[in-house]
Amino acid sequence: MDTDNFPTDRYLVEGIAAERGLALRWIEADPSSGVTTAQAAGAISERTAVVVLSHVAYRSGYLADGAAITELAHRSGALIVWDLCHSAGSVPVALDEWGADFAAGCTYKYLNGGPGSPAFAYVAERHHESFHQPVQGWLGRREAFEMALGYEPADGVRRFVSGTPPIFGMLPLRGMLALVEEAGIQAIREKSVKLTEFAVAAHRELLEPLGVVLASPAEAERRGGHVTLEHPAFRELTQRLWAGGVIPDFRAPQGLRMGLSPLSTSFGEVLRGVEAVREELVRVV
Ligand SMILES: Cc1ncc(COP(=O)(O)O)c(C=O)c1O
Repeated sequence: MDTDNFPTDRYLVEGIAAERGLALRWIEADPSSGVTTAQAAGAISERTAVVVLSHVAYRSGYLADGAAITELAHRSGALIVWDLCHSAGSVPVALDEWGADFAAGCTYKYLNGGPGSPAFAYVAERHHESFHQPVQGWLGRREAFEMALGYEPADGVRRFVSGTPPIFGMLPLRGMLALVEEAGIQAIREKSVKLTEFAVAAHRELLEPLGVVLASPAEAERRGGHVTLEHPAFRELTQRLWAGGVIPDFRAPQGLRMGLSPLSTSFGEVLRGVEAVREELVRVV
Protein backbone atom coordinates (compact mmCIF):
# COMPACT_ATOMS: atom_id res chain seq x y z
CA MET A 1 0.00 0.00 0.00
CA ASP A 2 1.24 3.52 -0.62
CA THR A 3 1.71 6.41 1.77
CA ASP A 4 -0.51 8.65 -0.32
CA ASN A 5 -3.48 6.32 -0.58
CA PHE A 6 -6.74 7.64 0.85
CA PRO A 7 -6.87 7.55 4.68
CA THR A 8 -9.76 5.04 4.83
CA ASP A 9 -7.73 2.59 2.76
CA ARG A 10 -4.60 3.04 4.87
CA TYR A 11 -6.38 2.83 8.20
CA LEU A 12 -8.38 -0.24 7.18
CA VAL A 13 -5.29 -2.07 6.01
CA GLU A 14 -3.39 -1.04 9.15
CA GLY A 15 -6.24 -2.45 11.25
CA ILE A 16 -6.35 -5.74 9.34
CA ALA A 17 -2.56 -6.12 9.43
CA ALA A 18 -2.52 -5.52 13.20
CA GLU A 19 -5.32 -8.04 13.74
CA ARG A 20 -3.65 -10.71 11.64
CA GLY A 21 -0.05 -10.05 12.69
CA LEU A 22 0.97 -9.11 9.16
CA ALA A 23 3.60 -6.59 8.11
CA LEU A 24 2.66 -3.55 6.03
CA ARG A 25 5.06 -2.48 3.36
CA TRP A 26 4.71 1.14 2.30
CA ILE A 27 5.44 2.48 -1.15
CA GLU A 28 6.52 6.11 -0.72
CA ALA A 29 4.33 7.83 -3.29
CA ASP A 30 4.99 11.32 -4.59
CA PRO A 31 1.86 13.33 -3.56
CA SER A 32 2.01 15.24 -6.87
CA SER A 33 2.20 12.04 -8.83
CA GLY A 34 1.36 8.48 -7.70
CA VAL A 35 2.50 4.88 -7.62
CA THR A 36 4.42 4.16 -10.79
CA THR A 37 4.72 0.68 -12.23
CA ALA A 38 8.47 0.73 -11.47
CA GLN A 39 7.80 1.57 -7.81
CA ALA A 40 5.24 -1.22 -7.56
CA ALA A 41 7.75 -3.63 -9.11
CA GLY A 42 10.32 -2.63 -6.47
CA ALA A 43 7.90 -3.19 -3.59
CA ILE A 44 6.08 -6.39 -4.54
CA SER A 45 7.84 -9.65 -3.78
CA GLU A 46 6.98 -13.30 -3.19
CA ARG A 47 6.36 -12.29 0.45
CA THR A 48 3.48 -10.01 -0.63
CA ALA A 49 0.02 -11.33 0.18
CA VAL A 50 -2.05 -8.46 -1.15
CA VAL A 51 -1.47 -5.16 -2.94
CA VAL A 52 -3.91 -2.31 -2.21
CA LEU A 53 -3.75 0.76 -4.46
CA SER A 54 -5.95 3.49 -5.84
CA HIS A 55 -6.40 3.46 -9.59
CA VAL A 56 -6.75 7.27 -9.63
CA ALA A 57 -4.96 8.97 -6.72
CA TYR A 58 -7.35 11.09 -4.65
CA ARG A 59 -4.90 13.98 -4.27
CA SER A 60 -2.97 14.28 -7.53
CA GLY A 61 -5.32 12.46 -9.90
CA TYR A 62 -2.43 10.17 -10.98
CA LEU A 63 -3.77 7.31 -13.09
CA ALA A 64 -1.97 4.07 -12.24
CA ASP A 65 -1.37 1.40 -14.87
CA GLY A 66 -4.01 -1.11 -13.77
CA ALA A 67 -3.06 -3.85 -16.20
CA ALA A 68 0.70 -3.70 -15.58
CA ILE A 69 0.50 -3.53 -11.77
CA THR A 70 -2.10 -6.31 -11.60
CA GLU A 71 0.25 -8.48 -13.63
CA LEU A 72 3.17 -7.64 -11.34
CA ALA A 73 1.14 -8.64 -8.28
CA HIS A 74 0.11 -11.91 -9.84
CA ARG A 75 3.64 -12.75 -10.96
CA SER A 76 4.65 -12.68 -7.28
CA GLY A 77 1.63 -14.71 -6.24
CA ALA A 78 -0.13 -11.76 -4.58
CA LEU A 79 -3.74 -10.64 -4.83
CA ILE A 80 -4.66 -7.08 -5.78
CA VAL A 81 -7.42 -4.76 -4.57
CA TRP A 82 -8.05 -1.62 -6.61
CA ASP A 83 -9.77 1.42 -5.11
CA LEU A 84 -11.93 2.88 -7.90
CA CYS A 85 -13.47 5.83 -6.03
CA HIS A 86 -12.09 8.37 -8.50
CA SER A 87 -12.29 6.08 -11.52
CA ALA A 88 -15.94 5.03 -11.64
CA GLY A 89 -17.70 7.26 -14.14
CA SER A 90 -14.56 9.16 -15.20
CA VAL A 91 -11.98 6.77 -16.70
CA PRO A 92 -12.28 3.39 -18.43
CA VAL A 93 -11.66 0.48 -16.07
CA ALA A 94 -11.17 -3.08 -17.32
CA LEU A 95 -10.91 -5.27 -14.21
CA ASP A 96 -11.73 -8.54 -16.01
CA GLU A 97 -9.24 -7.74 -18.77
CA TRP A 98 -6.51 -6.85 -16.26
CA GLY A 99 -7.29 -10.04 -14.33
CA ALA A 100 -7.78 -8.01 -11.12
CA ASP A 101 -8.94 -9.85 -8.01
CA PHE A 102 -10.96 -7.29 -6.06
CA ALA A 103 -12.02 -3.67 -6.30
CA ALA A 104 -14.07 -1.28 -4.24
CA GLY A 105 -15.27 2.24 -4.72
CA CYS A 106 -17.75 4.86 -3.68
CA THR A 107 -20.63 6.29 -5.68
CA TYR A 108 -20.55 9.83 -4.34
CA LYS A 109 -18.08 11.32 -6.80
CA TYR A 110 -18.55 10.96 -10.57
CA LEU A 111 -21.64 8.81 -10.03
CA ASN A 112 -23.37 11.67 -8.20
CA GLY A 113 -24.87 9.57 -5.39
CA GLY A 114 -24.15 12.21 -2.77
CA PRO A 115 -22.47 11.66 0.61
CA GLY A 116 -23.60 8.43 2.22
CA SER A 117 -24.54 6.74 -1.05
CA PRO A 118 -23.47 3.08 -1.09
CA ALA A 119 -20.04 1.70 -1.87
CA PHE A 120 -19.63 -1.02 -4.47
CA ALA A 121 -17.42 -4.08 -4.61
CA TYR A 122 -16.02 -6.11 -7.46
CA VAL A 123 -14.92 -9.69 -6.91
CA ALA A 124 -13.49 -11.62 -9.85
CA GLU A 125 -15.77 -14.51 -10.67
CA ARG A 126 -13.01 -17.03 -9.96
CA HIS A 127 -13.02 -15.94 -6.29
CA HIS A 128 -16.76 -16.08 -5.67
CA GLU A 129 -16.77 -19.53 -4.10
CA SER A 130 -13.71 -19.05 -1.91
CA PHE A 131 -14.34 -15.49 -0.72
CA HIS A 132 -16.04 -15.07 2.65
CA GLN A 133 -17.78 -11.88 3.67
CA PRO A 134 -16.39 -11.33 7.18
CA VAL A 135 -19.39 -9.22 8.23
CA GLN A 136 -22.11 -11.85 7.83
CA GLY A 137 -25.38 -9.98 7.56
CA TRP A 138 -28.86 -11.15 6.75
CA LEU A 139 -28.95 -10.08 3.09
CA GLY A 140 -25.82 -12.02 2.18
CA ARG A 141 -27.47 -15.25 3.24
CA ARG A 142 -29.03 -17.70 0.87
CA GLU A 143 -32.84 -17.29 1.10
CA ALA A 144 -32.45 -14.24 3.33
CA PHE A 145 -36.15 -13.99 4.13
CA GLU A 146 -36.24 -17.43 5.70
CA MET A 147 -34.39 -15.81 8.62
CA ALA A 148 -32.97 -19.24 9.29
CA LEU A 149 -30.44 -20.28 11.90
CA GLY A 150 -26.86 -20.46 10.68
CA TYR A 151 -25.21 -18.34 8.00
CA GLU A 152 -24.98 -19.87 4.55
CA PRO A 153 -23.65 -17.54 1.86
CA ALA A 154 -25.83 -16.81 -1.17
CA ASP A 155 -24.54 -17.92 -4.55
CA GLY A 156 -22.43 -15.58 -6.67
CA VAL A 157 -21.74 -11.96 -5.94
CA ARG A 158 -24.81 -11.59 -3.68
CA ARG A 159 -22.83 -13.24 -0.89
CA PHE A 160 -20.87 -9.99 -0.53
CA VAL A 161 -23.90 -8.04 0.58
CA SER A 162 -24.02 -7.63 4.32
CA GLY A 163 -26.70 -5.36 5.76
CA THR A 164 -29.69 -3.52 4.40
CA PRO A 165 -28.75 -1.27 1.45
CA PRO A 166 -29.22 2.53 1.72
CA ILE A 167 -32.11 2.79 -0.72
CA PHE A 168 -32.42 6.59 -0.68
CA GLY A 169 -28.72 6.93 -1.48
CA MET A 170 -29.18 4.56 -4.39
CA LEU A 171 -31.98 6.51 -6.06
CA PRO A 172 -29.85 9.33 -7.52
CA LEU A 173 -27.47 6.71 -8.87
CA ARG A 174 -30.06 5.34 -11.23
CA GLY A 175 -30.16 8.48 -13.34
CA MET A 176 -26.39 8.89 -13.39
CA LEU A 177 -25.69 5.27 -14.25
CA ALA A 178 -28.18 5.50 -17.12
CA LEU A 179 -26.44 8.66 -18.34
CA VAL A 180 -22.98 7.06 -18.15
CA GLU A 181 -24.33 4.09 -20.08
CA GLU A 182 -25.88 6.37 -22.70
CA ALA A 183 -22.81 8.60 -23.19
CA GLY A 184 -20.31 5.72 -22.99
CA ILE A 185 -17.18 5.80 -20.85
CA GLN A 186 -14.88 6.47 -23.84
CA ALA A 187 -16.74 9.66 -24.75
CA ILE A 188 -16.79 10.67 -21.06
CA ARG A 189 -13.04 10.15 -20.85
CA GLU A 190 -12.53 12.25 -24.00
CA LYS A 191 -14.45 15.15 -22.49
CA SER A 192 -12.67 14.66 -19.18
CA VAL A 193 -9.22 14.85 -20.82
CA LYS A 194 -10.25 18.04 -22.65
CA LEU A 195 -11.50 19.56 -19.38
CA THR A 196 -8.35 18.76 -17.42
CA GLU A 197 -6.14 19.95 -20.34
CA PHE A 198 -8.13 23.18 -20.37
CA ALA A 199 -7.81 23.56 -16.58
CA VAL A 200 -4.03 23.01 -16.75
CA ALA A 201 -3.72 25.55 -19.59
CA ALA A 202 -5.78 28.11 -17.65
CA HIS A 203 -3.61 27.49 -14.59
CA ARG A 204 -0.41 28.05 -16.61
CA GLU A 205 -1.69 31.35 -17.93
CA LEU A 206 -3.50 32.75 -14.91
CA LEU A 207 -2.16 31.12 -11.75
CA GLU A 208 1.39 29.93 -12.36
CA PRO A 209 2.66 33.54 -12.59
CA LEU A 210 1.31 34.02 -9.04
CA GLY A 211 3.34 31.11 -7.68
CA VAL A 212 0.73 28.33 -7.96
CA VAL A 213 2.19 24.89 -8.71
CA LEU A 214 0.54 22.06 -10.64
CA ALA A 215 0.38 19.03 -8.30
CA SER A 216 -1.13 16.64 -10.85
CA PRO A 217 0.57 14.79 -13.71
CA ALA A 218 1.18 17.12 -16.66
CA GLU A 219 0.49 14.35 -19.21
CA ALA A 220 -3.20 13.71 -19.77
CA GLU A 221 -2.76 9.95 -20.18
CA ARG A 222 -1.44 9.68 -16.58
CA ARG A 223 -4.22 11.85 -15.15
CA GLY A 224 -7.76 11.01 -14.04
CA GLY A 225 -10.64 13.48 -13.92
CA HIS A 226 -9.40 16.06 -11.44
CA VAL A 227 -6.58 18.57 -11.18
CA THR A 228 -4.83 19.70 -8.00
CA LEU A 229 -2.94 22.95 -7.62
CA GLU A 230 -0.79 24.00 -4.68
CA HIS A 231 -0.16 27.30 -2.96
CA PRO A 232 0.40 28.16 0.73
CA ALA A 233 -2.65 30.47 0.69
CA PHE A 234 -5.11 27.82 -0.50
CA ARG A 235 -6.40 26.73 2.92
CA GLU A 236 -7.65 30.21 3.71
CA LEU A 237 -8.61 30.99 0.15
CA THR A 238 -10.87 27.93 -0.21
CA GLN A 239 -13.19 29.33 2.46
CA ARG A 240 -13.57 32.56 0.54
CA LEU A 241 -14.15 30.75 -2.76
CA TRP A 242 -16.91 28.70 -1.15
CA ALA A 243 -18.51 31.85 0.20
CA GLY A 244 -18.53 33.20 -3.37
CA GLY A 245 -20.17 30.09 -4.80
CA VAL A 246 -17.06 28.46 -6.32
CA ILE A 247 -16.60 25.08 -4.64
CA PRO A 248 -13.21 23.37 -4.98
CA ASP A 249 -11.89 20.87 -2.39
CA PHE A 250 -9.04 21.72 -0.10
CA ARG A 251 -6.57 18.88 0.44
CA ALA A 252 -3.93 19.37 3.12
CA PRO A 253 -1.35 20.71 3.34
CA GLN A 254 -1.92 23.24 0.53
CA GLY A 255 -3.79 21.61 -2.34
CA LEU A 256 -6.81 22.99 -4.12
CA ARG A 257 -8.55 20.22 -6.01
CA MET A 258 -10.80 20.89 -8.98
CA GLY A 259 -13.15 17.96 -9.47
CA LEU A 260 -14.32 18.25 -13.07
CA SER A 261 -17.28 15.96 -13.49
CA PRO A 262 -17.20 15.43 -17.27
CA LEU A 263 -20.90 15.22 -17.99
CA SER A 264 -21.93 18.26 -16.02
CA THR A 265 -18.95 20.64 -16.06
CA SER A 266 -18.54 23.12 -18.91
CA PHE A 267 -15.32 24.73 -20.12
CA GLY A 268 -16.80 28.12 -19.20
CA GLU A 269 -17.24 26.94 -15.61
CA VAL A 270 -13.63 25.76 -15.45
CA LEU A 271 -12.43 29.17 -16.63
CA ARG A 272 -14.71 30.96 -14.19
CA GLY A 273 -13.36 28.80 -11.37
CA VAL A 274 -9.72 29.46 -12.27
CA GLU A 275 -10.43 33.18 -12.62
CA ALA A 276 -12.08 33.19 -9.20
CA VAL A 277 -8.95 31.59 -7.70
CA ARG A 278 -6.84 34.27 -9.38
CA GLU A 279 -9.07 37.08 -8.11
CA GLU A 280 -8.77 35.81 -4.53
CA LEU A 281 -5.06 35.12 -4.86
CA VAL A 282 -4.07 38.58 -6.11
CA ARG A 283 -5.48 39.99 -2.87
CA VAL A 284 -3.08 37.99 -0.73
CA VAL A 285 0.15 37.74 -2.78
C1 LIG B 1 -9.70 6.99 -3.12
C2 LIG B 1 -10.73 7.04 -2.03
N1 LIG B 1 -10.99 5.93 -1.32
C3 LIG B 1 -11.93 5.94 -0.33
C4 LIG B 1 -12.65 7.09 -0.04
C5 LIG B 1 -13.66 7.11 1.05
O1 LIG B 1 -14.07 5.88 1.46
P1 LIG B 1 -15.15 5.78 2.63
O2 LIG B 1 -16.31 6.64 2.24
O3 LIG B 1 -15.47 4.35 2.67
O4 LIG B 1 -14.48 6.28 3.86
C6 LIG B 1 -12.43 8.25 -0.78
C7 LIG B 1 -13.22 9.47 -0.47
O5 LIG B 1 -13.00 10.55 -0.88
C8 LIG B 1 -11.44 8.23 -1.78
O6 LIG B 1 -11.18 9.34 -2.47
